[in-house]
Amino acid sequence: MTGGAGFIGSNFVHHLVAHTDYVVTVLDKLTYAASREALDGLPENRVQLVVGDIAEADVVDPLVASHDAVVHYAAESHNDNSLDDPSPFIRTNLVGTFTILEAVRKHDKRLHHVSTDEVYGDLELDDPKRFTEDTPYNPSSPYSASKAGSDHLVRAWVRSFGVRATVSNCSNNYGPWQHIEKFIPRQITNVIDGVRPKLYGSGENVRDWIHAEDHSSAVLTILEKGRIGETYLIGADGEKNNLEVVRLILKLMGQPEDAFDHVTDRAGHDLRYAIESGKLRSELGWRPRFQDFEAGLADTIAWYQQHEDWWRPHKDAVEAAYAQKGQ
Ligand code: NAD
Ligand code: TYD
Repeated sequence: MTGGAGFIGSNFVHHLVAHTDYVVTVLDKLTYAASREALDGLPENRVQLVVGDIAEADVVDPLVASHDAVVHYAAESHNDNSLDDPSPFIRTNLVGTFTILEAVRKHDKRLHHVSTDEVYGDLELDDPKRFTEDTPYNPSSPYSASKAGSDHLVRAWVRSFGVRATVSNCSNNYGPWQHIEKFIPRQITNVIDGVRPKLYGSGENVRDWIHAEDHSSAVLTILEKGRIGETYLIGADGEKNNLEVVRLILKLMGQPEDAFDHVTDRAGHDLRYAIESGKLRSELGWRPRFQDFEAGLADTIAWYQQHEDWWRPHKDAVEAAYAQKGQ
């Protein structure tokens, strides 16, 4: 698999070790977003880490040749970074996915491509509709456009070359090991530091939160039971606006619920994401197991309180970069 030292990829590695007999090779470049520590303590006979770039064919090709399947998580994943400098997003998300596709085509291997609901653009707050597998692609940011492009490449390689691939598009994940540049961990670590949480714009933007563990169980289900060539949306009915999330973090951390600031909005900020995951549930029998958002958030807060040694070295630089943009 690729990207197994990242937030969601490392969760998937632990999920595989706990729930299957698979032996896993993680190919990961260990970018700023990676956490080698997230793979600590896993049995050496089950998990091997290879440090390398998915956009380099001479790295990817022999690894693909010697494995049965590829689960592709590696990506540049943060919208705000893609607005500051899109170039790594083009290279990793597009050239990297292309490189993997060429290797699985050459060696006739099964591929599962992990993507995001952000490829569909956004919904109005009062729109009764949610995203489905048939929603037209309409990405807003360089990040979501690069992921949309990677999905199109996978679909084209299925249709034109008969590559045995599936695609999943999941909503916003939360849980342990998420980089502190992202919304929920940024606000938790701000409150730990006695700093007020920062809401972009009005804070009315809605995200459809799912625990990373539920994303992992869904990807494993699709890998094992999904129909080749199909796309499955992954979501756990977790729509919340950013104001609600910040107020809940403040409440759980014993602070007044209005102790946050509104800051400069993100350019092109998507208003609302919402997932209809009926296909995955009815066709493959998947169900989310961690739908109590308040309990999941409380566990996540406790995890960041207990893992300060992991995030502390990065906090000042992350905040300095946001401060420069008035965020
Ligand atoms: P992350 O940024 O935490 O981790 C990405 C990982 O990929 C890192 O370990 C990094 O070192 C690795 N990587 C980056 N470029 C690489 C390259 N060129 N070669 C090899 N490895 C490279 O990301 P995440 O939040 O865990 O997201 C993982 C995947 O899930 C991404 O494809 C993302 O688009 C998708 N996704 C994320 C979310 C979310 O809420 N975070 C939601 C839906 C889908
Ligand atoms: P983020 O975690 O960056 O995920 P995404 O952009 O993929 O949805 O942001 C989640 C939401 O939180 C999004 O609406 C932007 C908003 N946000 C803030 O309000 N303040 C912040 O400091 C950050 C990082 C994000």
